[in-house]
Amino acid sequence: MAQEARRAPNDIRPTLTDEKVLEFCKTGILTLEGVIPESTNRWVFDYLDQEDADPHQLVRDECFIDEVLLHPAVAGVIRSLLGAHFQLPEWMANHRLAGPVEAKYWHIDAGSNFERACNLLQVFYIPQANTAEMGPTLFLPGSHLVPIAREDIERFGNLAGQEMTAATAGSVFVTAYSIWHRQPPKADRSTRNLLKWVCWRTEQPVRDWMEDPNFDFGGADYTYTSDYFYGPARMWQSVPRVAEMFYWLSGKAEEFRMVGGAGWPYSSTDPGFQASSP
Ligand SMILES: [Fe+2]
Repeated sequence: MAQEARRAPNDIRPTLTDEKVLEFCKTGILTLEGVIPESTNRWVFDYLDQEDADPHQLVRDECFIDEVLLHPAVAGVIRSLLGAHFQLPEWMANHRLAGPVEAKYWHIDAGSNFERACNLLQVFYIPQANTAEMGPTLFLPGSHLVPIAREDIERFGNLAGQEMTAATAGSVFVTAYSIWHRQPPKADRSTRNLLKWVCWRTEQPVRDWMEDPNFDFGGADYTYTSDYFYGPARMWQSVPRVAEMFYWLSGKAEEFRMVGGAGWPYSSTDPGFQASSP
């Protein structure tokens, strides 16, 4: 009989505020730079360096569960976005690259549905520092809500707004499952590890993160502004999608009502919208 999937314990404290959860709805990615301690990074790196290393075994390793999967900074974010008793991963992959490697295509992972919900999260952990030469994953923030066919996305080259996950050792990246991503060229001779797993929601969404009693659902700004290389740019089309995802996460899917046209949720607080729209 298959072993039952392990769920997160009761005592995990959510670490995200309303604003941070809304920010995640906009970008689909949250970076925790260097949160895993060096002592953990070292033993994980040493383990992965062994010839017979099987990263999949880490999902049943009590040290890995305590020090990485349930690290308060990591689990606190996942608890905020997936609710209590989220399901811990049943598998672990290591995207290990040795020596120079060509770039891969932009892609979305199998089963991506661009849903305005958050039932699973894809999590990445680098146990060693990643420089730009080591081929750190590129993500396109905001793309998790932009439906596209796999065969179309493959043709894209560099995209305005793409972000590279070059970061210090022990960094963790929590992403919406449908986010567009790719591996850029790996130019150096190093061996790089990138652990990746998925956590699942097990309970209905409810706004039980670090709520702010003054947060105003009707007046909040659901506009995502991306830092493009030629300056900040707003992703207008995603505004209602971001608002719908945030309402869903808050357990208010029934209350989500679009006015239509340029009405709510296009920001009523932003007079620039009407002026800048064609
Ligand atoms: Fe992928």
